[in-house]
Amino acid sequence: MAVNEVQGVISRAKGAPVELAPILVPDPGAGEALVRVQACGVCHTDLHYREGAINDEFPFLLGHEAAGIVEKVGDGVTNVQPGDFVILAWRAPCGNCRSCRRGRPWYCFASHNAQQKMTLADGSALSPALGIGAFCELTLVHALQAVKVDPAASPLAAGLIGCGVMAGLGAAMNTGGVGRGDSVAVIGCGGVGNAAVAGARLAGAHTIIAVDIDDRKLEWAKEFGATHTINSTQTEPVEAIRALTGGNGVNVAIEAVGNPATYEQAFYARDHAGTVVLVGVPDPTMQIELPLLEVFGRGGSLKSSWYGDCLPTRDFPMLIDLYRQGRLDLDAFVSERIGIGDVETAFERMSRGEVLRSVVVL
Ligand SMILES: NC(=O)c1ccc[n+]([C@@H]2O[C@H](COP(=O)([O-])OP(=O)(O)OC[C@H]3O[C@@H](n4cnc5c(N)ncnc54)[C@H](O)[C@@H]3O)[C@@H](O)[C@H]2O)c1
Ligand SMILES: [Zn+2]
Ligand SMILES: [Zn+2]
Repeated sequence: MAVNEVQGVISRAKGAPVELAPILVPDPGAGEALVRVQACGVCHTDLHYREGAINDEFPFLLGHEAAGIVEKVGDGVTNVQPGDFVILAWRAPCGNCRSCRRGRPWYCFASHNAQQKMTLADGSALSPALGIGAFCELTLVHALQAVKVDPAASPLAAGLIGCGVMAGLGAAMNTGGVGRGDSVAVIGCGGVGNAAVAGARLAGAHTIIAVDIDDRKLEWAKEFGATHTINSTQTEPVEAIRALTGGNGVNVAIEAVGNPATYEQAFYARDHAGTVVLVGVPDPTMQIELPLLEVFGRGGSLKSSWYGDCLPTRDFPMLIDLYRQGRLDLDAFVSERIGIGDVETAFERMSRGEVLRSVVVL
């Protein structure tokens, strides 16, 4: 079987800058698809990987927020064929695990990934970020990870649905269950948080409070639908959120940073019987301490959102439709187009708060 040699962005060791390296990508075996990546957004989770905050399975092939064209498929693949325009999903429910069998495929515990490994030139296996690895000209996925969508959408916009936009929109619409007339606070307004703002607006929230430490992010949040903004370096956010909601707090408080301090803000900024949604990814050292009486006495629910509780085959085509109808401005998430050699610089710009999304265009 043929092996394809392409360039990809790898993270070799904890904390070390990422590097471009030759990657060997096998042709698809049974059930797999080889995808020519056209665009891949830089998500904060890629940076978490390179900081060793997700796991220690270095070397990683980074990139997981991508769209492209199916190049080849293996035996038995029926959902896509060569030439199809697809968004890559890091969830492809198995239909068979204990969660799928309970009718909750968005929690699938045995999501499909490619069986074969992509490797470095010396044969050492790569761990593709979130089972994708798309800062690479070609990537190998399970065919069910390739979700066919309308090719009229630009690959830059479509790719963002593959992670951050879906995670944020879904945190509001699916996990948080935001509905008409609700009040919502989003703490941390990067790509994920601003997608939660957009999701809250789409779902009919009437008050949407965006909180960040950076005014640029708050300006973007207004464009996505925030009715109020709070710079939490200048204003105590819990008090300010209460003041904007008749002293009560919000129905749904979404944490999109991944930090104990901002989680506490979300916890105290919600109304009684409200919902906290944690979509930010904490690192393994982080702890929280909350008065148990407050957990009980405030009622409601404390939830985590993995990938916005999405079902890619249901939700990706729908979001592309909303985009094409002008109701979801995916282009506004794209701050810059970069080359495949610029991911490390994009991490620096992300850390300095200068971008919503840098998108690698291949
Ligand atoms: N749960 C999921 O399925 C999922 C999916 C994708 C990303 N994520 C996670 O979501 C988080 C956000 O990702 P992103 O790509 O939007 O990152 P990002 O770096 O673009 O955005 C983070 C935002 O948080 C803000 N921020 C930082 N500290 C803050 C504080 N103390 N108070 C308020 N705001 C603060 C930053 O200014 C920035 O705007 C990351 O932890 C990422 O790993 C989770
Ligand atoms: Zn399953
Ligand atoms: Zn991501």
